[in-house]
Amino acid sequence: MEPGWEPGEPGWEPGEPGEPGEPGWGGPGAALGGRGLLAAAVASGAALWATWAVLLMPGFRRVPLRLQVPYQPSSPRQVANALELLRGRAGKTVDLGSGDGRLVLEAHKQGLRPALGYELNPWLLCLANYRAWKAGYHGSVSFLKKDLWKVNLSDCHNVIVFLAPSVKPPLATKLLAELPDDARVVSGRFPFPCWTPSSSLGQGLEQCWAYDMKEVRREAKSRAQEKSQL
Ligand SMILES: C[S@@+](CC[C@H](N)C(=O)[O-])C[C@H]1O[C@@H](n2cnc3c(N)ncnc32)[C@H](O)[C@@H]1O
Repeated sequence: MEPGWEPGEPGWEPGEPGEPGEPGWGGPGAALGGRGLLAAAVASGAALWATWAVLLMPGFRRVPLRLQVPYQPSSPRQVANALELLRGRAGKTVDLGSGDGRLVLEAHKQGLRPALGYELNPWLLCLANYRAWKAGYHGSVSFLKKDLWKVNLSDCHNVIVFLAPSVKPPLATKLLAELPDDARVVSGRFPFPCWTPSSSLGQGLEQCWAYDMKEVRREAKSRAQEKSQL
């Protein structure tokens, strides 16, 4: 294109603006210009942030970023494995980060009562309550808008956790400090790195591990004793 030709003038053709290094070549951002590119980057950033804050992680403003776990529902096989590891047990059963409520509903169905879930995402809480109502369990199961890091777990006998591996160490500290000796923790997808499971079920990402707190404490104590003797 000749310098000076404008779109619409005789001889003007849309086409190659030139090669890199040649006059007229403006690089990939030429059409937008520097300000346009900046505006596009800001707009995409804002859209990403809005998706994260409004749809994926609403209600998490007060949770430190390192403790935030996004929603990823467990598969039917994971739900079955987790509940199988709690078969025959009794007492208060909680899902820490209950999502759409599938594990709590299944726990209730299996006779684990009371069954409840803690969840911060209001969309998921609505969905869980709707699913409870549809299943005829409304009023029998609870979904509470509470930060799992702030609830006291000292009266829980069965605890289900389908959370990211990054939060397992601080969660292990909380569970060790609060749960009664006869409590069982079932972890899905990822094990607790420093605990020895009493049993496990499934393969790969479908695997679930069961931990009995009495055993976990005994092991932690003997490890601490060994360390002090060194
Ligand atoms: C990986 S999903 C598991 C959902 C459900 N337990 C399941 O297995 O289908 C983790 C859930 O924990 C919730 N969550 C993350 N951090 C939380 C917190 N501090 N308090 C309450 N819920 C939380 C998320 O909103 C998300 O729904």
